Amino acid sequence: MDVDTGVDDALAIMLALSTPALEVVGISSVSGNVSSVQAAQNTSFIIQHLWPQKRIPILAGASESLAGEAYHAAPEIHGPDGIGGVYESGRHSNFNSAAGSDQAVSAILEAVAAHPGELTLAACGPLTNIASAILTDPHTMGQLREIMMMAGALHRPGNITPFAEFNVFCDPTAAQTVLASGLPIRMFPLDVTERVPLMRSEIKRHAARCPRIADLIMRIIRFYVRFHRKNYGFDGVFMHDALPIAYLIHPGLFVFKDMHLGVDTSPGDTRGQTKPSTIAPAGPLVKAALEVDEQGLHTLFWQQLANP
Ligand code: BDR
Ligand code: CA
Repeated sequence: MDVDTGVDDALAIMLALSTPALEVVGISSVSGNVSSVQAAQNTSFIIQHLWPQKRIPILAGASESLAGEAYHAAPEIHGPDGIGGVYESGRHSNFNSAAGSDQAVSAILEAVAAHPGELTLAACGPLTNIASAILTDPHTMGQLREIMMMAGALHRPGNITPFAEFNVFCDPTAAQTVLASGLPIRMFPLDVTERVPLMRSEIKRHAARCPRIADLIMRIIRFYVRFHRKNYGFDGVFMHDALPIAYLIHPGLFVFKDMHLGVDTSPGDTRGQTKPSTIAPAGPLVKAALEVDEQGLHTLFWQQLANP
């Protein structure tokens, strides 16, 4: 997994680690919702809090975009630390942030090379680390089974500008590099992720099935809920990054369309817009999710979280 943890990244991590059929071989972080170091710290905190026995390598990756731009923090959306103030208020320090961008890219490449043809990479943040890995060693990245990316907005407005979705907006060049790579890609745009809210009432209703996880979710969504109430008018949060993980567990929840996509990398108003590409595809078309079984996804989410 590659994450900028973030509330919905945290939901994705919880869903993946609650699912015995999935093995998470490593997690790299990228700057997006928060700095890549904070994202790694948040990831480490969540795993240690819920699964103290698990040993999953976590590496802090890119701190700026491929073009060298500083990251766009979203403290007003996910809270100052990205997870509703839970990390900061506990003053956790369980992550050694010595690693930098190069180590994260090397770790991704080593993991792929160690499991040729077997790994799926779930990209839940800006695509900087993934693009760097592709630019560094396209042959090794060609041994991935698939790249799944929560990215883009196809038939609806963006969520950071009228045209752009946040992950693509943060590093349009990286997103374009990944889309043009010719690797097999499955994209989960806002068209599906904004169809799946996780309501506070629902978390309370299921709390008895998984009290520790539900309690942590309630605490980390504090700021994120305010943002959704104000901007979307519901008392909950979108589950964005959890959708690719749900796909891995139950592919039938989604309907995909083969598309040839690129990204507007210009500095103007449409920066970060995902749109039909005019460049000939270097490989298979992107499989873009356009439909989701919302009810099925909720059922799956709580079933998995209730796993012992
Ligand atoms: C994406 O942007 C981030 O804020 C979320 O974590 C998600 O990955 C949604 O546009
Ligand atoms: Ca994210």
